[in-house]
Amino acid sequence: MLPIPLCEPNLSGNEWQYVKESLDSNWLSGGSFLKKFEESVVEYTGATYAVGISSGTTALHIALLLAGVQRDDLVITTNLSFVATANAIKYTGADPIFLDIEPETWLLDIKLLAEFLEKQCYVEGQSCFHKATNRRISAVVPVHILGNMPDMTELGALADLYYLALVEDAAESLGSFYKGQHSGTFGEAGTLSFNSNKIITTAGGGMLLANNEQAAKRAKHLITQAKSSTLEYLHDEVGYNYRLVNPLAAIGLAQMEQLPRFVEKKKEIAGLYTQQLSILPEIKFQKITSDVNSNYWHFVILVKNSRELIQFLATHSIETRPLWIPLNELPPYRNDLYISNENHTQQVAYQGIMLPCSTSITLEQIAFVGEKIIEYYP
Ligand SMILES: Cc1ncc(COP(=O)(O)O)c(C=O)c1O
Repeated sequence: MLPIPLCEPNLSGNEWQYVKESLDSNWLSGGSFLKKFEESVVEYTGATYAVGISSGTTALHIALLLAGVQRDDLVITTNLSFVATANAIKYTGADPIFLDIEPETWLLDIKLLAEFLEKQCYVEGQSCFHKATNRRISAVVPVHILGNMPDMTELGALADLYYLALVEDAAESLGSFYKGQHSGTFGEAGTLSFNSNKIITTAGGGMLLANNEQAAKRAKHLITQAKSSTLEYLHDEVGYNYRLVNPLAAIGLAQMEQLPRFVEKKKEIAGLYTQQLSILPEIKFQKITSDVNSNYWHFVILVKNSRELIQFLATHSIETRPLWIPLNELPPYRNDLYISNENHTQQVAYQGIMLPCSTSITLEQIAFVGEKIIEYYP
């Protein structure tokens, strides 16, 4: 059996043709593919506007600025995420408050959030403040981990009650819906990533989903160095060079054409692993509630001896990875606030193993991975 990679890009559609067309057009920075790619994301997600950006991280940075996050603010997010979520918060000059996860869905614990807001925060005027520090809490950033989504109705109501901007980190959840509504379209803004391991890729890239024209225009302005004249080099505020370039958008458009097929394949992979591994009481799976239609971007199991199992599978040329180290344990974030009763993040983070789930994986390869995991448990 050949090595089984963790999660490879799948470039089996019109990628080559569109990239060639984009190069032939000689429009590299902007151009028709960027526009078409943005339109295809709008059509698929039902977002009002979509703005192509250089990455999921920079999209989140801009989304937080649009949501009014300012220097010295606090921003609530989940303690289990890829580091980019926390980094984007820091780029604005704000600091994160990490909230523990719900132990079954592995998502931001909304009950804990409600308790925290009620007991440790207060509202004055139309702003929420953290009692212990008197700092303003301006936003909450749920992260749709592995494609799963929390109760967006409850979260939206809490955000409204406490005047928090709702910004969704939907980097992993293109193709996921909550009660029929696409991830990233619930609050002030949502962000997608097209990094090479995501469900669709542009090699590197991202998209900001906005619910009004003003926000989309401001996002475009900020990501093009805040240039306010077509002729003069007049820049009316500190801007960023965060554009998504046309040849990468060309890859994105070809990938969007295949997204429905990719989502179906991810669901099939998750179903097969679950079926095969459910016989092992040692293994736990992520819970997806009936309100969520997940894209199953990445299939993860929890086991007590995750690091040994990773090594064992590597000896059979199966590439797996641990989940992310909890954000509050990373050196740049150790001094930030972590709200938790039982530290579920730690348990899930250190027990989690990401299994191979490329959209090109074969049924034999999935079965082989399952067999080897079963073989590991006597
Ligand atoms: C949850 C989450 N947020 C943000 C990002 C950042 O996206 P990018 O790598 O495109 O900057 C990623 C993935 O890379 C992610 O998984």
